[in-house]
Amino acid sequence: MNAFVMKNTLIVVGAGIKFLSHLTTEAKVSIEKADYVLYLVNEPAMKEWIETANPNSESLDFLYDTNLPRNQNYLLISEYVLKALEKTKVLCLVMYGHPTFLAEPSIYSVNLATKNGHNTYVLPGISSEDCMLADLLIDPSSCGCQSYEATDFLIYDREYDTSCHLILWQAGMIGIKTNYQEQDPKNGLEILTEHLLKKYSEQHPVFLYEAAQYPSCKPSIEEVVLADLPQSPVSSLTTLYIPPNKVKEPNEFYVNKLNNINS
Ligand SMILES: C[S@@+](CC[C@H](N)C(=O)[O-])C[C@H]1O[C@@H](n2cnc3c(N)ncnc32)[C@H](O)[C@@H]1O
Repeated sequence: MNAFVMKNTLIVVGAGIKFLSHLTTEAKVSIEKADYVLYLVNEPAMKEWIETANPNSESLDFLYDTNLPRNQNYLLISEYVLKALEKTKVLCLVMYGHPTFLAEPSIYSVNLATKNGHNTYVLPGISSEDCMLADLLIDPSSCGCQSYEATDFLIYDREYDTSCHLILWQAGMIGIKTNYQEQDPKNGLEILTEHLLKKYSEQHPVFLYEAAQYPSCKPSIEEVVLADLPQSPVSSLTTLYIPPNKVKEPNEFYVNKLNNINS
């Protein structure tokens, strides 16, 4: 690469889940001060706020192609981000929630920008996972926490331990390869339920969770039994939480070993 070519800077920020309340000071300043802003956020108030905070802003919604396989679509978006970066000194990319959490366009864009010699920064945001831990009072360290994208969980037959918390993302999009919103999530939920019934009972509780997107609104938390999961209403924002069904016994070998190190 030519050493005299000026590098540009890509700052990827997370806008959080709850409109404006979750926007960190560093994300806000990055949006306001950038030479250009590209954004992919999922609710209208945040879009409007970004446009006002920085009039040199552009939504990436027009690139969100609902017929393309998601991965292909995300590559296309990152190529667009790179093109914009090549003509912008400081470009800010805004994603909702946390910008690397189930947010491939950010990761692809950062990798592409780095490969092309640009500076990159990723600023964390409050994710739907953070909201869920708070609203459902889950301490992920209490017995361990497993977190999977629901389709990935099934197709890779992920190993999981039912004595730990289990969180499944994109439960409303199981087996759906594109961003097309109108597909029926029921078939995917039936397959997931059949799989979970190998380790949990039909009566085991499952929580269908949606974090509040606006201040003063409450989260939506539906508790159902596992057998009823296929009939339960899910949306593209639903995340599933499955509590443990057993308590693990401590391993005596390690308990003794640890007891001995300080005695
Ligand atoms: C493409 S991912 C985006 C995640 C986002 N980057 C984040 O940090 O939360 C979409 C999935 O995240 C979860 N999600 C997004 N918004 C949510 C909300 N308001 N409540 C609960 N889960 C949510 C759902 O599992 C949804 O299918």
